[in-house]
Order: sequence, then C-alpha cells, then structure tokens
Amino acid sequence: MLARALERIRPAVRALRPYVVGAPRQAPVKLNQNENPFDWPEPIKARLWERVRALPWNRYPDEYPVELTRALARHMGLDAGQVLVGHGSNELMYLVLGAVVRPGVRVLVPEPTFALYSKLVRYYEGELLSVPLREDGSFDVEAIRAALRGHEPDLLVLVSPNSPTAHRLLQAEIGQLAAEAPGLVLVDEAYAEFSDQPSAIGLLGAHPNLLVLRTLSKAAALAGVRIGYLVGARELIEELYKAKLPFAISAWDEAIALLALEESAWIAEQIARICAERDRLRDALSRIPGVEVWPSWTNFVIFRTPLPAPVLFRELAQRGVLVRDISDYPRMEGFLRVSVGTPQENDRFLEALREVVGAGGRQVGDHAKTRGER
Ligand SMILES: Cc1ncc(COP(=O)(O)O)c(C=O)c1O
Repeated sequence: MLARALERIRPAVRALRPYVVGAPRQAPVKLNQNENPFDWPEPIKARLWERVRALPWNRYPDEYPVELTRALARHMGLDAGQVLVGHGSNELMYLVLGAVVRPGVRVLVPEPTFALYSKLVRYYEGELLSVPLREDGSFDVEAIRAALRGHEPDLLVLVSPNSPTAHRLLQAEIGQLAAEAPGLVLVDEAYAEFSDQPSAIGLLGAHPNLLVLRTLSKAAALAGVRIGYLVGARELIEELYKAKLPFAISAWDEAIALLALEESAWIAEQIARICAERDRLRDALSRIPGVEVWPSWTNFVIFRTPLPAPVLFRELAQRGVLVRDISDYPRMEGFLRVSVGTPQENDRFLEALREVVGAGGRQVGDHAKTRGER
C-alpha cells in the first residue's frame, strides 16, 4: 500500500534531496550562513513590537502585501506593478522557475552557484545547462555568451554577486547578456548591497526580459523574518502574480519589513561596517602562510589551506567556530566559506585558523592523510 502511495510521487521529486544546512543552529562563533552579524537594536525592536501588538491577529493579511509592495517600489523609484513580494527570495525562485520550467525548457546556469537553482530545474523537469566559472571563480562572460548562442536557453540565471564564489559581474556585462539572451534573465542580487556594482534594476528600462531578485535577509539583517522581492517589467510581474501563493506574507512580516525600510540609515551603517570587516578579514587571511583567499563582493569570504576542507571544518568547529565546507561544490575542492561576523567573531575565527593551520596544521594534515580523508 505504502509502495503504491509512494509511486504517485513524481520520480523527479523522489530523486531530489531535501535542502538542509546540516549544521548546528547555534555555535559560539556562527559564521556559516552569510547572515548579518548585527541584530536590530532593542529600541527599534520595541517600537516594532508595539506595531505588531496593535495589529488584529484574528484577521487575514492582504493576499499580497500591498503597503510593503508600494513602499519597496517607492524606495527603488519604480512602479508598484513592477514589484512582487515573497516569503524570502527562496519562495520567489520557486515561483519564477515554476512559471517557466517544464520538460524541454532549457535553463542556463553558470556554476558553481546557489544550489537551489539546479535543484528547481530538476524539480520542474527542465534541462539544466551549466557553464563553468573560470578557475579563479570569476564569471566567464564569453563562455556564457557562447552558450546563449549555442543553446538558446529559455532562462538564464545569474547570481551576482555569486555564492559560493563571492565574485560579481559588472552591470554592463549583465546588460550585454540580457541583450543577447533569447529568453528571460533572472539576476539574483542577494548580496548586491556589498558589491561595488550598481543593481541590475537600473537595466530594466532597456531590457524588459530581466527579472531581479532581492532579499531583506542579508544586508537588512532580517533572515529570520523571510522577505524577498522580485522586480521586473510590469507585464511579466502581472503574469507571475497568477502563480503566486496568496497570504504568504503575514501581517507581522509586513510590519517588520515596513519598519526596516524606514530605518534604512541603520541598514546602511551595518553594510559599511560589514564591508570594512570583510576587507580586514581578507587581508588578515592573506597574511597567514599557506592560506589562499579570493576577492569578495559579498558578506563572506572563501579560502583554502593545504588541509582537507572537512578536516579544517572539524578543527574550527572544535574551537567553537562554525564555517561552511563548500568543497563538495564542483571545482571548489579544499575551499571553505566564512561569513563576515562582528569584529570579535572575526578575530576568534582568525585565531582558531592560525592555531590549526600554523603550529598544529601539519600534524592535523598528516593525521588526516593517514586516515585517508580528502
Ligand atoms: C544566492 C542567494 N540567493 C538568495 C538567498 C537568500 O534567500 P532568502 O531571501 O530566502 O533568505 C541566499 C542565501 O543564502 C543566497 O545565497
């Protein structure tokens, strides 16, 4: 009976694996999920709590959060009809790919990148076309252009700045790719606030095939609240609304996000602090003998050492520092990713790393080799 029930689940779904971070929820120094290390200050939280208390909890929110959509549009100088708010940008990835992908539809993705995109192509049974990034993690624009000409994909996904490599495309390069793409181009800008490039939102007027995905999870320090938004041509957004899950944004979510927009000066301050800390972290990493560190236009840094990544991950975890082992992404062997934390957290990470890679590094590495670990 159970076997027959299971057979009713699409094979494409049964072949997937659930998305799990696979790490403890807490650690003395938690630098594994690219979160903003600075939580909202208590006085702002208190004001917010007053607003949430004043809401009627027994009533449904709007089907789609009208006030927040308008506020975001005003913030970007766009029309409200060009904005669609989702329960985190993850929900909007499901929305866009669900609206576009079906068997026979081709999706081009420069990889390695955020794993949810390839998973969604498989979930919706499309055809995934992957273009490798360059050896140094930068985007190979010529290879993407050649793939656009050669495969004519229905959708091109650009995560810029990219996770996990921390590189970004120039705005002009995104414009060129949008001009040459035969289909839609989705630009995921989860880390845009930490980049030196202007947002692809500025290209929307010239390229109506562009959709830009943003989130309040990173720069706005609201990962726990779950708000993302999609921006594009009014006609495209109108179609996507038809597939949107209604009531996904609670009245609480909306109130919090609205307050965050009012407090954009606080957000800007934290972005500046994070970028300064990122540059300090990169500099300090580059001074540790044996450590290779890549440039970053995000709120995280990736690096490798002569030690196998799982060994280094474990040694850091034993010292209370949680980072992300990204060595199982294609062509990322040996690499780990560390989110930019508070100055104190970054110092504790650097101290632990020096301890493992420095004096103890050889011992730990030899020990790992004899046990046959990567
Ligand atoms: C590339 C990318 N997009 C989006 C997100 C965040 O999604 P959400 O807005 O659902 O928090 C992340 C988070 O790690 C990410 O790395």
